Formats: sequence, structure tokens, C-alpha cells
Amino acid sequence: MTPRKIIIDTDPGQDDAVAILLALASPQDLEVVAITTVAGNVPLALTTRNALMMCELAGRTDIPVHAGAIRPMVRDLVTAEYVHGGSGIAGAGLPEPTMTIRSGHAVDAIIEIVMSAADGEITVCPLGPLTNVGLALVREPRIAERLHEIVLMGGGFFEGGNRTPAAEFNIYVDPHAADVVFRSGIPITMMPLDVTHQALTSPERLARFAAIDTPAGRAVHGMLDFFERFDIERYGMQGAPLHDPCVIAYLLEPELFGGKTVPVRIETASELTMGMTVVDWWGATDDAPNATVMREIDADRFFRLLAERIALL
Ligand code: RIB
Ligand code: CA
Repeated sequence: MTPRKIIIDTDPGQDDAVAILLALASPQDLEVVAITTVAGNVPLALTTRNALMMCELAGRTDIPVHAGAIRPMVRDLVTAEYVHGGSGIAGAGLPEPTMTIRSGHAVDAIIEIVMSAADGEITVCPLGPLTNVGLALVREPRIAERLHEIVLMGGGFFEGGNRTPAAEFNIYVDPHAADVVFRSGIPITMMPLDVTHQALTSPERLARFAAIDTPAGRAVHGMLDFFERFDIERYGMQGAPLHDPCVIAYLLEPELFGGKTVPVRIETASELTMGMTVVDWWGATDDAPNATVMREIDADRFFRLLAERIALL
């Protein structure tokens, strides 16, 4: 089967980094046409550096990496060093990248790739704030009818938020960009906290990565060992939720997930609920369904898939 062509839009972040490695470990299933970076977990210079480091770690210096938005569309940038460490990928233990970014802003790269590909050929996988994708839709609205799908990590409903009581970080950072994306009419598959909070690391699951005696295995173990501290303390969880790898795992094995296609709207007015994904799960409105919202995951099979693929790098 022909590998599915994807653009990964990302703000590495340890979980983004693992998602990138999972995608690059699966060339028989996924062709990563480009990686575009955005400010989010840490500022743009660091998310871009971190994306380059993951491409080098995976031996894929051929992957075009384009730097994108340095701040959200309207609001000030909010970052998350308290979760990810100052570098954004604390625990990776890797050297500075020698690979460099490609010329051209990420927004222009997304437009160029989508407009020059065949209809429905490209899937965009946002793993961070939606600023680049939102700006691309404003700059070239025609990408909306040419994209195959957007598969994103973001939002929450019964699970609430992780940046505020109401909002998940990616959507909270740039709610206006998220509003543009969710109103675009593009088929959206959404991985909210309701599903990613079921994909928890554990000592046993972490041990699997420690047992992978490769640079990639060691980097993933180091990153996840650092990354889980915040969530264990904040939520009293057994481990860290592997948010962004859920997006890539869905592309590889969609049967691992379950959800429902429902209306989703984004709060962009109230400070109290800014960035909330208002998911009409029970059909309380007549709004048109615009996203397939995932709520179930087979976490054991998810972690088996992840460990199997990382071991291939
Ligand atoms: O809320 C979790 C999301 O915010 C993940 O994508 C994480 O990397 C951060 O970007
Ligand atoms: Ca992310």
C-alpha cells in the first residue's frame, strides 16, 4: 500500500518528539513530506531545534523542516517549560543538531505542498497550537477543499483542561487559530485529553524503552522519564499521558481508537473558558458535526506499537 503523505506541525515537547520518531519509524505506512514547527511548549527557536534533532536521531536529514509562527494569531505566547524543561525535550541527552531548516516559512510550505499535491493526497497532523494551520487557511483558503484530513491532538471535554480548568494547552495557546481550523470544513479527527489521559506511561511501559539498546531507545526513555514527573504530581497519575503519539498511532492503527463525529466549537470570547473545546457529545444543538472526537484507546496495544516501531530506528 502506498504510504500516506503527511505534514507534521509540531512544538516539541517530549511527546511531540516521540510522535515524530514514531512516524519516521514507519516509512512503509507514512511519508513525512515535511515537518513544520510552531511556538508552543517552548519558543519557536527551541521547537525548531528539537524537531531537527529528532530527524537526525532517526537518520532522516532529508526531511524538510520549516520554521513557522513565533507567536499565536492574536494572544501572547504561553509556553510550558514547567512540563517539558527549559529545552523542551529535557531527558533526550542528544547533541545539538547539525541539520538546518529549509528556507520558506512553514505557512508557505504547507500551502505549497497542499496546492501542488493531488486532491486529498495530504493529511496535516498538528501536535501543537494551530497557529500555522490557521494562518495557512487564512492565506490560502483553497487548501481546505484539497486536504484529505486534519488529525490533531488538542482539546478536552469530559476530561476538562490541563492549562486551565476549561482548556487544553494547544487550543488554549491559540484559540483563534483553532476556531479557524474547526470552522474550515476540513475533515478533522481530534485526540483530546479524554483519550490521551488513558495513554499513560508506567514503570513497566518505560522499561520497554530502556530495553531498546539504541540511541533512539535511550532518548525516548530519557525524555519520557523526565516528562512524566509533572503529570504524576499534578494528577496523581501512574505516569505521563502520551498525547501527541496518539495522532500518529491513529494513522498507523485506527482500530486502536474509538469516538464519535460531533459538533465542536472553540471558545474565543470569555477569559474564564478561553480555548475550551465545546464538544456537543449528546447532540444538544443543531450544529453540524465537524470533528470525529476520540474517547477510547486500547492503551496496551498503543504502547506495544510504539515500542515495536521505536526499536526499528
Ligand atoms: O496538552 C497537551 C499538548 O500540549 C501536547 O501536544 C503537548 O506537547 C503540548 O503541546
Ligand atoms: Ca505538542
